[in-house]
Amino acid sequence: MLALPLLVLLASAGTGPAAGLAVIARTLFPCYSADLKPVSEVLVSARGCTVLFSVEPRAAGTTAAWEYESGARKELIATLVPNKSAEISRAYVGHARLSEMDFSLQLVLRWWNGGFYRFRSESEATGWLELRVVEPLSEPEILGNSFVEVGGDTKLYCNVLEGQVDVYWWKRNGKLLMESNGLQFIHNNTLEIHRALMNDTGYYTCIVSNAVSHNETSFLLRVHRIFNWWRLRNSPDDDLTF
Ligand SMILES: *[C@@H]1O[C@H](CO)[C@@H](O)[C@H](O)[C@H]1NC(C)=O
Ligand SMILES: *[C@@H]1O[C@H](CO)[C@@H](O)[C@H](O)[C@H]1NC(C)=O
Ligand SMILES: *[C@@H]1O[C@H](CO)[C@@H](O)[C@H](O)[C@H]1NC(C)=O
Repeated sequence: MLALPLLVLLASAGTGPAAGLAVIARTLFPCYSADLKPVSEVLVSARGCTVLFSVEPRAAGTTAAWEYESGARKELIATLVPNKSAEISRAYVGHARLSEMDFSLQLVLRWWNGGFYRFRSESEATGWLELRVVEPLSEPEILGNSFVEVGGDTKLYCNVLEGQVDVYWWKRNGKLLMESNGLQFIHNNTLEIHRALMNDTGYYTCIVSNAVSHNETSFLLRVHRIFNWWRLRNSPDDDLTF
């Protein structure tokens, strides 16, 4: 991964990025909880969001294009020829828009848009800007038994179907849980409760987050006393017979 930007730079050394000429990119509002600050090297954004790529105002009257590269994939996204309307390449139609005023490019992200972007005119090219496209997290589901006997053990799994989770958090009745004698986190997505107490009853929330989103869900766990037939039958103060 580290070698890639270097290779791309070497490969483009012939045309040479003009000193100081850079692409500025930012994610447009609204976009989950993605950072909306403009950047000039690496932008992390979310699938479904719109990214605006811009360059300093160019001299009018030159042919210009936005280019994309990722490994062996090289594509022209959009081209602008003087006195003609902007042309969007087939794979980007409906997802890209080029401004003929300032040459800025708007792209509605699909997951395969991750890669390197630059702007090039007849006389100069910008450096490459890296775009990382992260899948926003869907609502997790908590899997496990909703009843456990007092003194018993149980596990709650937090399962997320869409997106890759960076961090998991667990809460009980709104309070953040820490690992303790009775609680253990396994593979970050599993909460193990050992020797359950009556007061372990409550709403358990799994909170998940990654660079562009967070999501959560809750689950009611009830701890109940063991229903003891033996004690019931031998209890001196009732005369139940079976
Ligand atoms: C959580 O995921 C659901 C889809 O599973 C989505 O509709 C919702 O907006 C997400 N919540 C947040 C806070 O992003
Ligand atoms: C759990 O998360 C921590 C950081 O939050 C990470 O270092 C660790 O590798 C994760 N473990 C597993 C099994 O995913
Ligand atoms: C539950 O009860 C135990 C023992 O009575 C106590 O140590 C623990 O702090 C209680 N936990 C909560 C969440 O109230």
